[in-house]
Amino acid sequence: MDHFQYIDGQLHCEDVPMTRLAEAFGTPLYVYSNRTLTDHYVRIDKAFAPLNAEVCFSIKSCQNLSILRLLKGCGAAFDVVSGGEISRALEVGADPNRIVFAGVGKSDEEIRFALESGVGWFNVESEAELDNIATIASGLNKTARCALRVNPDVDPHTHVYTTTGKRETKFGVDLERARRVFRDCSSRRGLDLCGIHLHIGSPVNTIEPYVQSITKGIALIEALRREGFSITAINLGGGYGAHYDGDEAPSAAAYAERIIPLLSERDLDVLIEPGRSIAANAGALLMKTHYTKSSGEKQFIIVDAAITDMLRPALYGSFHFAWPVAPHGGLVPAVRTADTRLEGTALADIVGPVCESGDFLAKDRYLPPIRRGDLIALFSAGAYGFVMSSQYNSRPRAAEVLVSGSDMTLIRRRETYADLVAAERL
Ligand code: LLP
Repeated sequence: MDHFQYIDGQLHCEDVPMTRLAEAFGTPLYVYSNRTLTDHYVRIDKAFAPLNAEVCFSIKSCQNLSILRLLKGCGAAFDVVSGGEISRALEVGADPNRIVFAGVGKSDEEIRFALESGVGWFNVESEAELDNIATIASGLNKTARCALRVNPDVDPHTHVYTTTGKRETKFGVDLERARRVFRDCSSRRGLDLCGIHLHIGSPVNTIEPYVQSITKGIALIEALRREGFSITAINLGGGYGAHYDGDEAPSAAAYAERIIPLLSERDLDVLIEPGRSIAANAGALLMKTHYTKSSGEKQFIIVDAAITDMLRPALYGSFHFAWPVAPHGGLVPAVRTADTRLEGTALADIVGPVCESGDFLAKDRYLPPIRRGDLIALFSAGAYGFVMSSQYNSRPRAAEVLVSGSDMTLIRRRETYADLVAAERL
């Protein structure tokens, strides 16, 4: 499912050995595979083609301009959550009418910017926001096409921080209230309230929660139509899984197979907002071993990447498979899972240099012997990896490189010490 493979005991991204990438660009380094990004986009696009679904790549998952341009070239529309993301989409020449703008706290400036840029859809999260969009839009003599984000009260069985479709979260409007919002707001000047938006969480590795939420969404649409409202679109959100620990995520085709029958012949435009399922397995974080040490029973491998480069393990307890790029003795497990207790491996933590015990990338892993200078890859890092990086501890952010066959292109240079202070005044 991705193009990171060991060939003769050496990890490659497509046709390029990862050791060559480290020599050329240094570490820590985000490495993305063009072929994987393209494959994943095409798979989801094809899977939902019977619904003629608009695939809006969720920029928050992986925002590099070169990657956005690549996906736009594949036909992607975009899902954005801020003025900054709108500006990225426009920068790569996205059709503004094919941008959907979500977010629970859009500022007046962002709403104005979106309207002036001609953004196609606002996914709206509350009556107060609708009211504000109506005021700003009518002031500009414009009409904002809106989908009301509905909270279907479905449990996606994912991390509590990324659960959004349960009643007690801050997202959307609950089902009962939704009908009232349509009654109260849909005739407001400046608004064309004609869609329903659903997003239940991320990652959602089972399909049933989608079936439940779409079924509830359809029932709402039918009730609204009976009341005379014209509902033209349903946006299913994102959240489709990626492979972190083995191949746990359903395929795009498997999600589509269950979802399509619920939506065909409903006279609805369908939009989806995948991020992770396209980008996660298309990226790896390449890092170098500074030191190894023992403390009590424990082995520590101290690398040059840190929570500042990859926050997910510390923030969510997420599992990312980690393995040396050129393992001594050529030991490579057949599947990238937590269960790698092979002969010749020993238990270790991979940690970064930041001054916090929470600064770890991989905990309690059976790994082959690792020495100072050895390169290690952290897999499935393409989504919510670089985008969540920071400069904490005054660490310049990593570089990003895009591999395409045997070509490697630097798509974000490594930050310098000068970058760290560029916005400050003395
Ligand atoms: N649409 C909406 C309204 C969303 O809130 C999100 C993600 C997506 C689409 C894209 O979801 P995806 O297909 O990428 O799963 N930082 C967390 C993930 C946060 C997701 C936030 N919303 C992580 O690292 O797991």
